[in-house]
Amino acid sequence: MSDLKLVDVSKSFGAVEILKKINLDVKAGEFIVFVGPSGCGKSTLLRLIAGLEEITAGELVIGGKRMNDIDPSHRGLAMVFQSYALNPHMTVAENMGFALKFAGLPSAEIRARVLSAAHILDLEPLLQRRPKALSGGQRQRVAIGRAIVRQPKVFLFDEPLSNLDAGLRVHMRIEIAKLHRQLGVTTVYVTHDQVEAMTLADRIVVLRAGEVEQIGSPLDLYDNPANLFVAGFIGSPKMNLLPAIVTRTADGRPALRIPDIGDALVALPDRAPRLEDGRAVYIGIRPEQFCVDGSAEFDLAIDIVEHLGGTTFVYARKGSSAAIVVETRDGRAHKSGDAIAVRFDPASLYLFDADGGRIRSAAFGQPNA
Ligand SMILES: Nc1ncnc2c1ncn2[C@@H]1O[C@H](COP(=O)(O)OP(=O)(O)O)[C@@H](O)[C@H]1O
Ligand SMILES: [Mg+2]
Repeated sequence: MSDLKLVDVSKSFGAVEILKKINLDVKAGEFIVFVGPSGCGKSTLLRLIAGLEEITAGELVIGGKRMNDIDPSHRGLAMVFQSYALNPHMTVAENMGFALKFAGLPSAEIRARVLSAAHILDLEPLLQRRPKALSGGQRQRVAIGRAIVRQPKVFLFDEPLSNLDAGLRVHMRIEIAKLHRQLGVTTVYVTHDQVEAMTLADRIVVLRAGEVEQIGSPLDLYDNPANLFVAGFIGSPKMNLLPAIVTRTADGRPALRIPDIGDALVALPDRAPRLEDGRAVYIGIRPEQFCVDGSAEFDLAIDIVEHLGGTTFVYARKGSSAAIVVETRDGRAHKSGDAIAVRFDPASLYLFDADGGRIRSAAFGQPNA
C-alpha cells in the first residue's frame, strides 16, 4: 500500500476546465471516497490518478514518486469500473489471471494468486464458469478479483456497484468494506451514492462542479458541514433547509422568521451571533433533530407517512410550502391528512448565508462548529 497525493491538480478538456486545483493527501491504507452529483468530475479525477487521462496542471505523487508522466501500467494501481468488461470467452479463472499472463508471470504464480483471490471473494466454486453463467454480483466479484491478483498498491473503484440491484448493492458494499479491512490497500472509490460514501469511507471528498467542497470523515461531514451544499448532500433523508429572515421577537430578542412555516418566529439562543435585521439566511434541521422537548413549536399538516418499522418519516408542510421531513421513533399513529405539532431546539439549528456559506457559532449546531 502507498500514500497518494494530489497537489493543485487541474484538468481541462479544450478550453473547459473540468477540475480546479484539487488538493488531497491520502494516507497509506486509507479508504477515500469521492462523492458528488453526476458530471462534477469524479470519474475524471480517478482517471487522472489511473493515468487514463493526462493531468493539465499540478502534481500526482504515489508512494513518494511523481507519477504525472509514468505509464498507467507502472503506477502500481488496479481499477474496477462500473461495467465489468469481462471477456465472455474466458472462464472466471482465465479472466482473473489474464493481466498476469500478459505481464509474463509464471503460471504457478498466476494460479496461486487467482486461487487466493477466489478464496477471499468466495469465487472458488465458479472458477471454471464463463461470465454468462454468472449473476451480476458474481461478475462484479470477478472484476474485483481481477484487480486483487495484481497486488496493487492502490485500488481505484469507479461506481462499481451502480449496475447491481438494491439488495446486492448492500451486500457488495459490505464485501468491499471487509476486503479493505483484510487487505489494507489504499483505496480511492467513486460514487454518487452518499450512503455508500458514508458507510465505506475513512474520509469523504465532496466534489461539486470540479471543486472540493469539503473533506472529512463521514460523521465530520454529517455533524459539521462546511456549507449548504454539503449539508444538503450528506444525509438521507436530506437535512431540511428553509429560507429565513433575521428579525426580533415582540420583546426585542433576536429571532428568525420562517416564511415556509407560516412566518413562524423562532427566538435565537442567547449566545447566538449578532445578525443584522432583515438579513436573508437559511436554517438547517436534520429530520432526527425534531424532538419532543424543543422550545420552538409549530403545527404542520401531514402529507405522507413512511413507516419503516423501527422508525417513521413524516413529510409535513404548512400550506403550499415544501415538505419538511421529520423522523420519529414513535410515529405509528401518524397518517396522511393529520395535523402534527413539531418541536426543535433552536440551539440545534444549522445556519447558512444566502450564498450558502455556513454561519458558525458556538450557539448553533454541533459543539465544534
Ligand atoms: N473526454 C472528455 N472530453 C470532454 N469532456 C469530458 C470528457 N470526459 C469528461 N468530460 C466532461 O467532464 C465533466 C465531468 O465528467 P465526469 O468526470 O465523468 O463526471 P462524474 O464522474 O462526476 O459524473 C462532464 O461535464 C463531462 O462531460
Ligand atoms: Mg462518473
